[in-house]
Amino acid sequence: MRHAHLRLAHANELRPVSGPAMEVDQGLAAPIGQNLDLAPADPADARSQGLHDRLLGSEADGKLVYTPATAGHLQVGVDAPEKALRMARQRLPDPVDLNCVDAGGKGGHLSQILAPIAVGAADEAPRARSGEGRYARRMSARIIDGAAVSAAIRADLTRRVAALRQRGVDPGLAFVIVGDNPASISYVRGKARACEETGLRSETFHVAEQTPQADLLALVEKLNQDPAWHGMIVQLPLPPQIDPDVVAMTIDPEKDADAAHPFNLGRVLAGMPGPKPCTPAGIQQLLLRTGNDPSGQHVVIVGRSNIVGKPLAALLMQKQPGANATVTICHTGTRDLGAHTSRADILVAAVGKANAITADMVKAGAVVIDVGNNRVADPSRKSGSRMVGDVDFDAVKEVASWITPVPGGVGPMTVTMLLSNTVAAAERSAAVPVGGAANQAPSLR
Ligand SMILES: NC(=O)c1ccc[n+]([C@@H]2O[C@H](COP(=O)([O-])OP(=O)(O)OC[C@H]3O[C@@H](n4cnc5c(N)ncnc54)[C@H](OP(=O)(O)O)[C@@H]3O)[C@@H](O)[C@H]2O)c1
Repeated sequence: MRHAHLRLAHANELRPVSGPAMEVDQGLAAPIGQNLDLAPADPADARSQGLHDRLLGSEADGKLVYTPATAGHLQVGVDAPEKALRMARQRLPDPVDLNCVDAGGKGGHLSQILAPIAVGAADEAPRARSGEGRYARRMSARIIDGAAVSAAIRADLTRRVAALRQRGVDPGLAFVIVGDNPASISYVRGKARACEETGLRSETFHVAEQTPQADLLALVEKLNQDPAWHGMIVQLPLPPQIDPDVVAMTIDPEKDADAAHPFNLGRVLAGMPGPKPCTPAGIQQLLLRTGNDPSGQHVVIVGRSNIVGKPLAALLMQKQPGANATVTICHTGTRDLGAHTSRADILVAAVGKANAITADMVKAGAVVIDVGNNRVADPSRKSGSRMVGDVDFDAVKEVASWITPVPGGVGPMTVTMLLSNTVAAAERSAAVPVGGAANQAPSLR
């Protein structure tokens, strides 16, 4: 029978409390498909108890499960909230690496990874850590499912919207469209649908393409003053007579659902509460909710736009839970891009060019977040084209430990964080603690 081999410094100090017998051979081994509940071998033994606590956290009720579906990965399913998983990771002594997934417990569908795994079949010795990679063999990355993470956040938002209603607050998000750009109309329609599904009230204010800037600013001011609206966005792009920066600065920062106002960008930089730019906040949630806490990790972001690269760097560098990363930003002025990207524990591509990130630019075991939206020709499709990201997905997934697909990765999160900013604004306006009784991950505050 094939065995997984988990490297633990003092593995023989743990014993299974249920499940099959374990092999203890310089580590802990579990037959494929079996669960192992772990307990200190001797609760009275401080070393043994200490290892158990470091591994699982005192709140966590942990068990190991190794399945053929994830061959080569030993998984730790923990019937405990994500918080406990993150705590467990912080407690793990280097070089103990565990790949952790939810085993059908309270964590729901979300897979959790504590750290890239240094485990394989017993005969596959893990390669020592080096800048080149940690793995004895190539791996196929786990997919970060943006739609599933989105659905989990939206379920919580629905609950918070209902709680606000009970207190007499009816959260509302106003959309403003200038002109008849079909893409803008379609985007806003999608966002309005997301509002409806979450129980948020929304309305679209559609004005003509020729609307003078002064008239648009007057509409924004009117929405600022109207207590019915807790959030607002003016859909971009805007026609040439309107300066998007002036519009962004006219929106009440407390109602700025896109967090585009320089005041809110300043709050993000200063680590203050307030609305967060949606795509960066969505990326932070994707990382946290797949167990890839950026704390202590080297995050390399390719792209320095005001809507993705810069605010994401500001968000992840904060000395705060869910952040605390070492951040590098790359752009067209960066010399030897690959030298930087290949040092990333977490690599974020926000470039706007298909295949800008190839497999040779990615460190083995890195987490790869692809923000790009690029339409490329595809004669096999009826439309003649398809959407791809900035990352050469097929090749990079053989190197990375986790990867977002395009579509279905970052995209759904951007809309979800728009809703999240609006619900949080309504909670602030009603003096309800943001996030309600059940606290959310840090970036949702
Ligand atoms: N999924 C979503 O929700 C979502 C949200 C926002 C954006 N996007 C997509 O993400 C992509 C990026 O958009 P954006 O608005 O953040 O960026 P952007 O304003 O288009 O800027 C692109 C950035 O990439 C850098 N860059 C371009 N080519 C490069 C190269 N060869 N090497 C290194 N850096 C390079 C540019 O550097 P310079 O500054 O030096 O020019 C710039 O900072 C687009 O495809 C966009 O559609 C998706």
